[in-house]
Amino acid sequence: MRASRYTIFAYASMIGVPVLMLILAAATIAGKAAYSGAASILLAIALIVFGISGVVEIFWHGAYPGSQRKIIAGEDIRTRARPVKKYGKEISFVLLRFNSLTKRFDRHTYTTYANDRTTVLGAILDIKDYQDSTISVRCNCRMGICGSCGMVVNGKPVLACETNVLASAKYDTIEVSPMLGHPLLKDMVTDFDDFFERHRSVDPSLYRKDQKEKYAAREEYAQSKAELSKFLPYSYCIMCGLCLDACPVVNSNPNFIGPQALSQVYRYHADSRDQKGKRRLFEADTMDGVWGCEFSGSCSKACPKGVDPASAIQMLKGELMKDIADKK
Ligand code: SF4
Ligand code: FES
Repeated sequence: MRASRYTIFAYASMIGVPVLMLILAAATIAGKAAYSGAASILLAIALIVFGISGVVEIFWHGAYPGSQRKIIAGEDIRTRARPVKKYGKEISFVLLRFNSLTKRFDRHTYTTYANDRTTVLGAILDIKDYQDSTISVRCNCRMGICGSCGMVVNGKPVLACETNVLASAKYDTIEVSPMLGHPLLKDMVTDFDDFFERHRSVDPSLYRKDQKEKYAAREEYAQSKAELSKFLPYSYCIMCGLCLDACPVVNSNPNFIGPQALSQVYRYHADSRDQKGKRRLFEADTMDGVWGCEFSGSCSKACPKGVDPASAIQMLKGELMKDIADKK
């Protein structure tokens, strides 16, 4: 990309100032008053140009040389466009980005390149690096562990870091939008406060009657393989929120606590070390709890860790029905 005229002035002055200082020093040593006077005036001019160019470059164009102003969707933004890396296959990425001025989603199309190992997250980060630094996306581990890169790719909620571009592209095009089951913050970044609150509300921790042993445990809690297998699959949840985004009930009834929180109720209920007993079950025994689930199964389909929240909810329903039958 072309350097701005202020950058050129700044670079020219960086070379000019030392040259003029050398001329000034040489003229002073040689006793040539006319030369040293002229060199002093030029030096002063070069320093002023250098100072002004530097200030303009830093405060107007951004703190790095070669950046330029760019207007996108009415916003005056700073980009650092660099040549796009060309490798593999050319893919069109359509990002649905919310425009706060028009209050609707705009389709932004970017062309990038992907090979058989490029993930959706990697491609979006490339677009952000090389084409439009204003794109917001959240990621941490880039290996399907932290659960922070959830987004909707071609209509399905997925972890972007685990989704292969070439396998997902239809006619060499991929459409990416944020998960709308969570409040939107910017572009692909959604707010997880409400999701975490749902998780916290079911008391997701082991409850022990003897509180002292928490801090001064004398022995480990041994479990048999059978006891472990009852809850292990449900403990693989990475809190990515994809199941909540996929759940049609949460989308129509925001009070429904949701598949992730309910799967955690079952996870702790099924753990032989937990001593909260049936209280966990009864807390979930409401129309916004287990009975809100309509068993569409979309949560389990969306889950990237095979947690199967739909089956956890059915297990909870079964336990509650058994309790009713036992009381009769
Ligand atoms: S249950 Fe699965 S989809 Fe839902 S938050 Fe946990 S890992 Fe993500
Ligand atoms: S970046 Fe961590 S799960 Fe995708």
